[in-house]
Amino acid sequence: MERFRVHGGGPLTGEVTVVGAKNSALKLMAAALLAVGRTTLRRVPDILDVAIMAELLRRLGCTVDHDVAAGVVQIDVPERPDHRADYELVRAMRASISVLGPLTARCGIADVAVPGGDAIGSRGLDMHADGLTRLGATVHVDHGYLVAEAPDGLVGAPVSLDFPSVGATENILMAAVLARGTTVIENAAREPEVADLARMLVAMGAEIEGVGSSSLIITGVDRLSPVDHEVVGDRIAAGTWMFAAAVTRGDVVVRGFDPRHLEFVIDKLVGAGVVVDRRPDGVRVTCPRRPRSFDVMTLPFPGFPTDLQPFALVFDALAEGSAMVTENLFEARFHTASELARLGADVRVDGHHALLRGRERLSAAPVVGSDIRAAAALVIAGLAADGVTTVEGVGHVDRGYPSFDATLRSLGADVRRERVEEVPFAPAT
Ligand code: EPU
Repeated sequence: MERFRVHGGGPLTGEVTVVGAKNSALKLMAAALLAVGRTTLRRVPDILDVAIMAELLRRLGCTVDHDVAAGVVQIDVPERPDHRADYELVRAMRASISVLGPLTARCGIADVAVPGGDAIGSRGLDMHADGLTRLGATVHVDHGYLVAEAPDGLVGAPVSLDFPSVGATENILMAAVLARGTTVIENAAREPEVADLARMLVAMGAEIEGVGSSSLIITGVDRLSPVDHEVVGDRIAAGTWMFAAAVTRGDVVVRGFDPRHLEFVIDKLVGAGVVVDRRPDGVRVTCPRRPRSFDVMTLPFPGFPTDLQPFALVFDALAEGSAMVTENLFEARFHTASELARLGADVRVDGHHALLRGRERLSAAPVVGSDIRAAAALVIAGLAADGVTTVEGVGHVDRGYPSFDATLRSLGADVRRERVEEVPFAPAT
């Protein structure tokens, strides 16, 4: 097992350029299944989840080439792909579920393993299943697999989502583009990654109105063509580096993303006394003195993103004043709070609220990151702690951030990976 060894230190300074968004690239790879032939994706991040999605597509009969240095993935899709996504891959990466919509549309059947709960919550699939059912598929769970069948093809229909789920919107959208007739998705997710997917589908020949809005009108077409598409810049990675700059009271230029995708976060940081200078392709973040804390309530886009909530906890743990952070999307996403308490943060969790009173400095300790964002946030907390913090969860970070520790080192941080022996004790229950 590996862990990060983080020396608390001074401000981060320098420049970072983010690549394409993980949560877009994975869905664009799944969307390639909708067209026979070669799809080319550019600015694809070199992360473990992309390698898992590539493996999944290979097992479905596609040929996938990933030129890591160039950030280019090429996917050759056969006339008749296979339609089964095994548990082994789905449990390794939940986003595998995004092949459900395209496979049902292309093959008339899809069997995708049910991923089960994970570190951030139970994460139901009811809206994915209901949406495909509305489009005429029969959907049931069979021996741990979600099976969707539409042997005579899908038929467009109105679909109203109870909640603007990112994954459900994407799956229904990818199914509807090849359905007969018109589908209207109401209360659709508006995340920039969903809009990126819709834009690629339109380039492939899909008919979609309302891209970027909560009402998507899709008129099905018979066939789509493969395209060459550049993945939208990773706003969550960008937000990560912005918080890292603020927490260490540094000076960092973050490029490669559209600041309008982080409007809410930027407003919060500015209100707290962090200087955020917007540029066409990013921001410069400087934080010369201790900022004030701010309340956070996570919400679907354009609200405060749940993926940046762990970083807000770190920020508030160190800022001046008290703050309440409310998590509205995932019921189990406060793992970072209890680990921050190990670093000396004054934080209490009550249901889906965390209450924090800022401290000038944290105190280094061994901690465990339970998911991609939690582990990354704890490394950043370690930069603002006295002494050496070790963070388990390197594998999680590698799933979502290309060269995470190398990027931190380029900004002046002292962060290394080290191998550790497995401890022969069971964790406390
Ligand atoms: N939900 C249901 N039923 C459904 C679908 C969703 O109850 O059928 C619930 C979920 O349990 C959750 C809420 O709705 O409580 C929101 O889930 P959503 O479907 O919007 O999220 P997702 O598609 O599973 C994506 C990202 C997450 C990100 C969320 C919210 C990917 C691969 N994942 O997940 O990213 O937090 O949207 O923006 O796109 C990450 O990158 O670390 C990550 C977890």
